[in-house]
Amino acid sequence: MSNQLLAGKRGIIFGALDEQSIAWHVAEKCVEQGARITLTNAPVAMRFGKIFELGTRLNAPVIPADATLVEDLDNLLQKSMEELGGKIDFMLHSIGMSLNVRKGKSYTDLNYEFMQKTFDISAISFHKLMQSAYKLDAIQDGGSILALTYIAAQRIFPDYSEMAESKALLESFARSFGYHYGISKKVRVNTISQSPTWTTAGSGVKGFKEFFDYADKMSPLGNASADSCADYCVVMFSDLTRMVTMQNLYHDGGFSSMGMSPALLNL
Ligand SMILES: NC(=O)c1ccc[n+]([C@@H]2O[C@H](COP(=O)([O-])OP(=O)(O)OC[C@H]3O[C@@H](n4cnc5c(N)ncnc54)[C@H](O)[C@@H]3O)[C@@H](O)[C@H]2O)c1
Repeated sequence: MSNQLLAGKRGIIFGALDEQSIAWHVAEKCVEQGARITLTNAPVAMRFGKIFELGTRLNAPVIPADATLVEDLDNLLQKSMEELGGKIDFMLHSIGMSLNVRKGKSYTDLNYEFMQKTFDISAISFHKLMQSAYKLDAIQDGGSILALTYIAAQRIFPDYSEMAESKALLESFARSFGYHYGISKKVRVNTISQSPTWTTAGSGVKGFKEFFDYADKMSPLGNASADSCADYCVVMFSDLTRMVTMQNLYHDGGFSSMGMSPALLNL
């Protein structure tokens, strides 16, 4: 069902790797709601991902960008404005990767070069994106910028490792940049803290199945799906939320407010 909540808006969606990616669902829903978008991902991800298939179906130009490289981000913003015919109304940062997790390093034996790369990909890239957009004046007044995060920024989930600190940094960048963008252009910056979701990035976390089942039982509404996350992103990109900024918004079926659930005691 489409209410055309994003009719006439232009957007950039990062991170659609395959049909499981949260960003894949967001891209589909934004177009369904009347937006025109460009899709982007790291050049290396394009080789084994399915982004071109999605781009063709949604009539969305695909523009490669390594989100850690400012020149790639500048190029992406400029090309997106050219392709879409004007300034950008919304952007989704849907990027996460931990080198230490990928290499199986334990939290008490982390490699610091890997850690810096992890922070650069998963968090500093968000600042770089906003700073590039700010300098190029690429975002429409009253626009909306979102990044996806996880509750491990606030609570301990041991196997999430250094991604917890990445997400804490990401959420802090949203608040800090949200101030500057709010003052200058009435642009909103928020993070959405999503339930565990079956994706390439999600299932890379050790013990993900147990983790997923636990959160599902703990949450009164169950885990939020990628599809419902996409609905929430659409609302946050729309004009209906133009006074919401600098927030970390839980989209987790109620998980973040729970202490204990009888459903878990019956395991
Ligand atoms: N899956 C979950 O359980 C879950 C829960 C909460 C939050 N999130 C967050 O949602 C976001 C999207 O992840 P997902 O679960 O859809 O998994 P995903 O693996 O489909 O998406 C991660 C994306 O990051 C991209 N990426 C990695 N390095 C990059 C770089 N240098 N430049 C540009 N892009 C790069 C990947 O190519 C991929 O498309 C991430 O921020 C993730 O942390 C996921």
